Amino acid sequence: MKTGHIGLALLLGAGWAAAGEVWVADLGLGNMAQGYGAPQKNKSVDKHPLKLGGRTFEHGVGTHAESIFELDLQGGADRFTAVVGVDDEVKGSAASVEFKVTADGKEVFTSGLKKAGMEPSKIDLDVRGVKGLLLEVTDAGDGINFDHADWADAKITFHGAKPVVGPAQKEEAVILTPKAPATPRINGARITGVRPGHPFLYMIAATGERPMTFAAAGLPAGLRLDAHTGIIKGSVAQPGTYKAELVAKNARGAVRRELRIVVGDQIALTPPMGWNSWNCFAHAISAEKVKAAAKAMVESGLTQHGWTYINIDDFWECHKDSKDPTLQGPHRDAEGHIMPNPRFPDMKGLTDYVHDLGLKVGLYSSPGPWTCGDCVASYDHEELDAQSYAAWGFDYLKYDWCSYSPGMEKTRTRPVSFAPMAKYLTNGAPAKLVHNMRPYAVMRAALDKQNRDILFSFCQYGMGEVWTWGEELGGNCWRTTGDITDTWGSMAGIGFSQHGHEAYAGPGHWNDPDMLVVGQVGWGHLHPSKLTPNEQYTHISLWCLLCSPLLIGCDMTQFDDFTLSLLTNDEVLEINQDPLGKQAGRVSKDGNLEVWAKKMEDGSLAVGLFNRGAVACRVTAKWSDLGLAGKQRVRDLWRQQDIGEFDSQFEAAVPRHGVVLVRIWPAK
Ligand code: GLA
Repeated sequence: MKTGHIGLALLLGAGWAAAGEVWVADLGLGNMAQGYGAPQKNKSVDKHPLKLGGRTFEHGVGTHAESIFELDLQGGADRFTAVVGVDDEVKGSAASVEFKVTADGKEVFTSGLKKAGMEPSKIDLDVRGVKGLLLEVTDAGDGINFDHADWADAKITFHGAKPVVGPAQKEEAVILTPKAPATPRINGARITGVRPGHPFLYMIAATGERPMTFAAAGLPAGLRLDAHTGIIKGSVAQPGTYKAELVAKNARGAVRRELRIVVGDQIALTPPMGWNSWNCFAHAISAEKVKAAAKAMVESGLTQHGWTYINIDDFWECHKDSKDPTLQGPHRDAEGHIMPNPRFPDMKGLTDYVHDLGLKVGLYSSPGPWTCGDCVASYDHEELDAQSYAAWGFDYLKYDWCSYSPGMEKTRTRPVSFAPMAKYLTNGAPAKLVHNMRPYAVMRAALDKQNRDILFSFCQYGMGEVWTWGEELGGNCWRTTGDITDTWGSMAGIGFSQHGHEAYAGPGHWNDPDMLVVGQVGWGHLHPSKLTPNEQYTHISLWCLLCSPLLIGCDMTQFDDFTLSLLTNDEVLEINQDPLGKQAGRVSKDGNLEVWAKKMEDGSLAVGLFNRGAVACRVTAKWSDLGLAGKQRVRDLWRQQDIGEFDSQFEAAVPRHGVVLVRIWPAK
């Protein structure tokens, strides 16, 4: 569109800003997303004066990879100018970034690789007629550490409407998941494990009109089904694999599905699915909030899709030195048993409440004297704590490394067992590895003495390549990374760096790239996830492909329809819960475009076509990369629709930061 002089006069007359220039930093940086810290006006991300190649700049934006800032130039701008580079505050570090500018979907500038200490680059772009201007800093493919990046002197000159922040076209939260039909459908895990004689709890997950009744044929001796709730309980003495036939029935019809119950020494035969309090409530958790979460998991319908665990993270214990009276109290009783803080007056009552809803319930601790949040942890009390967890009725333990150090092994007052790592102690494994393993071996041995299955989650951020020994030490899952936050940089940085870990996951033992960040999250200060709708599709698709534990991190009493739709797509969740338990790996990468594939038990492949770039692109999954040959049937999993049959590849348009998730079977 051209704006002539008359047009301009009319626009000015209609109250538009006068022609001029504006510093980008003055437009407001609230919408700028980045992988670490917060964007700074006229300062570096660490709040020093902006400095590039020895020169200080008065104006500009200090950011951190991976960073995205969208401007709406409203078609009235003339030029965009800036000087870009890695800020001198990280000189000598391994920082490396790339700056990119995209105008209405077309890449118009790339800086190439910019490392710490390199000369900055000048940008001077003609942006006449442009609406959407996207300023991007990538991690240049090697992670975001030290990537302090400056858009120094970033300025826009304009003749028409003044540029504003925000995308020219806002991404709409389009719900793709179709509504479940009124006829009954059984969802959730098709296989479940329990140890002989230990309490068993499994709720049949089924969608469809209520009232619904349930039946089960072939349950092993010791298990009973409640026909109205669909909850199966009891315990089985005899080891073995039992094939039960589940039935769900309502006024519209009946459906049957097999459930394999494996009574043996393995649990977590599919990745755990549930909720954890940390990403929403953090230090502000209480028994009331836990109960509300459990109730919301049922009332929102999530349990009809296989969601099961309600996990309490840090801050159920008393705090080291907080002034908050609800975090104060005796740390332990006279015998050394841990005492919850006053927000958790009745642990057994709380687990009964959750179990009665058909759900399982989890708890948190650390191997040092204090947790990551400085609450009482398990050091020198591991066995007593494991006894308490079992007596209270907990089903899951997240054991979070904080405050442990090897020297502590010398100051124990109670005997402990290191049996799970005996071979490493006798074979002279490197001290560092032994150090990483020891606290997990101690708690594993303590849990093994309980007559209850407690899923054991190692949380130590990947130290000592935990994936290579986590299974052997009896971990059911292990964090592979630091903490996630609800930014593209954090989520995508973690998710896409899981390539290579697929060799180590399998039934009973899973890699854990941390919890979900969709819905109302905020670590004590709730806000809607900062991930865009497409980024959220990427997040859920990738975590399902990765066989990751799926732990919802939002306030479940405040679900919106979009978030619910992300968490209730049974064809997508089935990828995560497939009994074969094969984690996806990357099969091809072309710049920002990546294809990841996961083998399914029925011989099909689940395939994610991802676009990590900031502009919509076509992504191709080639049969040669997927190990396929001949005609294949392709189904879109989010839309739950067959797409068609293809001979040698499947290609799809993928939105920026988005995904197309498909399943591929040989055509008949
Ligand atoms: C660590 C963990 C988080 C959370 C907090 C609790 O940061 O990685 O997931 O459990 O501790 O303090």
